[in-house]
Amino acid sequence: MNDPKRYLITSALPYANGALHLGHLAGAYLPADIYVRYLRLLGKDVVFVCGSDEHGAAITIRAKKEGVSPKDIIDKYHELNKSSFERLGVSFDIYHRTSAALHHETAQEFFKNLYDKGGEFEEKTSEQYYDEGFDQFLADRYIVGTCPKCSHEEAYGDQCENCGSTLSPTELINPKSTLSGNVPVLRKTKHWFFKLDKHEAWLRDWIKDGILDGAKHHDPKDWKKHVIGQCLSWLDGEGGLQPRSITRDLSWGIPVPVEGGEGKVLYVWFDAPIGYISATKQWAKDNGKNWEDYWKSEDSQLLHFIGKDNIVFHCIVFPSMLKAHGDYQLPTNVPANQFLNFEGRKFSKSKGWGIEQHQYLEEFKDFPNKEDALRYALIRNMPESKDSDFRWDEFTDFHDNELVANLGNFINRVVVLMNKYYEGKVPVAVENNAFAKERAKIQTLLADYQNELEHFNFRKAVLTLMSISSEGNLYLQDVSPWKLWKTEPESQIVKNCLHNCLQIVGLLSVLTKPFLPFTAEKIRKTLQLPAIKNGDLKTILGQWETGVEIVPAEHQISEPALLFAKINDRKDTSRLALINAQKEQLAAILEADKASEREPVKPTIEFDDFTKLDIRTGTIIAAEKVAKANKLLQLKVDLGFEERTVVSGIAKFYKPEDIIGQQVLVLANLAPRKLRGILSEGMILMAEDETGKLCFVSPEKGWGNGFGVS
Ligand code: 2FM
Ligand code: ZN
Repeated sequence: MNDPKRYLITSALPYANGALHLGHLAGAYLPADIYVRYLRLLGKDVVFVCGSDEHGAAITIRAKKEGVSPKDIIDKYHELNKSSFERLGVSFDIYHRTSAALHHETAQEFFKNLYDKGGEFEEKTSEQYYDEGFDQFLADRYIVGTCPKCSHEEAYGDQCENCGSTLSPTELINPKSTLSGNVPVLRKTKHWFFKLDKHEAWLRDWIKDGILDGAKHHDPKDWKKHVIGQCLSWLDGEGGLQPRSITRDLSWGIPVPVEGGEGKVLYVWFDAPIGYISATKQWAKDNGKNWEDYWKSEDSQLLHFIGKDNIVFHCIVFPSMLKAHGDYQLPTNVPANQFLNFEGRKFSKSKGWGIEQHQYLEEFKDFPNKEDALRYALIRNMPESKDSDFRWDEFTDFHDNELVANLGNFINRVVVLMNKYYEGKVPVAVENNAFAKERAKIQTLLADYQNELEHFNFRKAVLTLMSISSEGNLYLQDVSPWKLWKTEPESQIVKNCLHNCLQIVGLLSVLTKPFLPFTAEKIRKTLQLPAIKNGDLKTILGQWETGVEIVPAEHQISEPALLFAKINDRKDTSRLALINAQKEQLAAILEADKASEREPVKPTIEFDDFTKLDIRTGTIIAAEKVAKANKLLQLKVDLGFEERTVVSGIAKFYKPEDIIGQQVLVLANLAPRKLRGILSEGMILMAEDETGKLCFVSPEKGWGNGFGVS
């Protein structure tokens, strides 16, 4: 399908049980937003849907923990996440919710449709864990135990968050109810299973070869390798695909709409992806459109942006549901991202490791252009094909060396010179051939820009954008109009140069939009051009190619506006202070972690045990290295009443010549033993820090040798 009429773009519906962090943003929301903004700039008909996933045990467990209702939880986090996305410029056409009546109806209809077809579901009675105290079956997150794959002790009944394995509750070792902490019992219950096994053969053709119903559906080369790899490991794994239970014994969720379904709800992973459909329906209703045009027409392309933990649901389970339903299109791509780590570790809310979207917005509220500064740092390090890491030092470098020193600097120089030389009125260019080389170079970069965006290579795409800005900087530097202007203010070379630079700025005002939407509009304002509208990229690409002015001669621009303000600024240290405050918080967490990792106190001993130790004061009177033992020193210690040889493992920390005369404490009645052939007659007492570094424990200076310690 080369030029679809419509696009439907989805981002994973986040659970409304907590605030989203930067890892989420970089994983499934920012990449989708970039792509959608790009499509809009090309004038495509595109709908971008998302919303809150408001069912599932994660919500009810959180509600219980906080002593509030599930509705309180979902209302709070739905609003928080929705507004954070908005503030960061993630431009959903709708941010729906799965608690909406329209979604409940849509999901129930979908279930009924497959149920009525026959052959898609099977009913099975099986034994499931039950908490007798709470009178409740224990689905998914209501049960924890040891992961059979990686031995992580806190694995959930549906998934181990440590190794990422998908589990079923009965696989857990030492299962425990999260409601009571008790060991659950097994009880019989009936559930509906979706017969995924039935879909295995076509799924394999579709994922491996892009063939669907005997025809080319998409080019598998366009799919990310790690996405295909994960799908194939499911398809080719031991036993292939198995029927999956799609109902649960819970009260929070969408009631199972068939006989025998009383007291049961749809499994959250059955209803959540249908949330994309209900969100589209709501959007269509609000905008006088037909939702089916986006879901059921061959002219429409469906793309799911997700994190790698959701691949199986979007590439295997949901496509099978859509195929079973019969009249839906399947996704033409699922450009899943890998994970973003934070300063070398996984994000962890409980440890305070990471920063949430709303936290960033609040803590950086006075940081100029904070939204685009963050978007840029995340794009530069987006986990597109492997896990990546967010670091504050890199945030600073990307910001100061690229946004400030390249993009901001170019635009600012051009606008300043324009105002200084021509009071902001764009000069007419005459005999402009000297610019042909730069024009052609930028033409090539524009093709790269589009190509990278079309292949979801957003890191490369944003670097191409920066290369276009670099071209502008190089050109400006090359001509150095300020030199000529001094002696010849009416020079046509200066006029041509600034005219040409302004065309590049005009180009950048549109090219930045997918990545840095706030910056794009600021540039437009400075240029006094209208806000960017759908199709503008197509227009300016055509203009660049044919040499039509993007910012016309005689047009009036305004004074320069601040786009970015350097973090490492000696005159104003406030921005660096913000970054340092973040780093200090993390350092404090690491410090606290180390302290808690120190060895706990050993088991209690009696006083009599202590009196068995004969610890004496002494002085080291000779020291030498032990041959072929780089950790050991051979010491002679004066204990007052006699001299002893002691072999001590301190060679890494002390040179022999530096410790002569060192006063020490010696365990004098330790049974002698041979170390490297030398009889060691005692032990020097040392203190050890968390890194394993040793230092002497010694009496106050001037104490004599041989005194006992009590
Ligand atoms: O992993 C998650 O956060 C899920 N709530 C994603 C659901 S995506 C879709 F299916 F709705
Ligand atoms: Zn595990």
